[in-house]
Amino acid sequence: MSPPRRPRAAPGGAKLGCARASLTIRGGRRAEAAGLAVCLLAMVAAGCEGVLPEPDFERMLHQRGYRPFERSVQFEDGRVMRPPPLGTIARGEVLGQPALTRGVEPSGAYTAQIPVPVTRAVLERGRDRFDIYCSACHGVRGDGDSMVASNMTLRRPPSLIDEPVLSFPPGRVFQVASVGYGLMPAYDIHLSVSDRWAVVAYLGALQRSQRVRLTDLPPAQRARALAALGGGAR
Ligand code: HEC
Repeated sequence: MSPPRRPRAAPGGAKLGCARASLTIRGGRRAEAAGLAVCLLAMVAAGCEGVLPEPDFERMLHQRGYRPFERSVQFEDGRVMRPPPLGTIARGEVLGQPALTRGVEPSGAYTAQIPVPVTRAVLERGRDRFDIYCSACHGVRGDGDSMVASNMTLRRPPSLIDEPVLSFPPGRVFQVASVGYGLMPAYDIHLSVSDRWAVVAYLGALQRSQRVRLTDLPPAQRARALAALGGGAR
């Protein structure tokens, strides 16, 4: 059941609420009559003045207003949308070296080396974030094999462990993760700068792990790998 509609306050703010309130006073007709009389008297005497009118929000809806990107004669540059004062920074914007925060060197080239120390903890963190934020589309191995990818008909998420992404400089992968690319959304609101670099570092590990040669492995790992492969050397 929908709640009863409240009557809108009449212009001038006449308040009918007090009459209703007094009618609900318990304790017989006398109290009720007295309440009503007092209320009526107060209304007549005060002419309902002193009761503040409700602010007229309707007026703000109906008055003439600018639309975004409209021309304005009010301002010298003719733009109704005012540029923020010089030096304003967006809330949450990370300040610092662009090589670290945007993956781009001052020269405009992509950052060629991961600008944070790549430790085991960083790689673990990268794996954690990659599995949460990237693997849904690019697959846990980064090879582009995922349920989402198989259902994306318009443009499939590419493999991140094969060309051309394989030879992307780290800064480019960082940039894609930060601002998105084509159909891929940006992840800067979900991943901090250090988390994005951790993902880039982990992606490096994924790329390496998928194409490692048996001869590159230390003897113990090599023996284990050979055993797992059924003894067949590659
Ligand atoms: C919602 C699915 C989705 C998720 C999640 C996703 N991607 Fe993508 N990614 C795509 C698609 C689709 C493309 C291809 C976009 C295009 O070509 O329009 C792509 C492209 C890329 C590329 C190649 C860009 C280029 O320059 O060619 C990289 C690198 C990449 N993604 C990295 C990541 C990383 C790192 C993450 C996790 C932070 C991630 N992606 C999460 C869908 C996704």
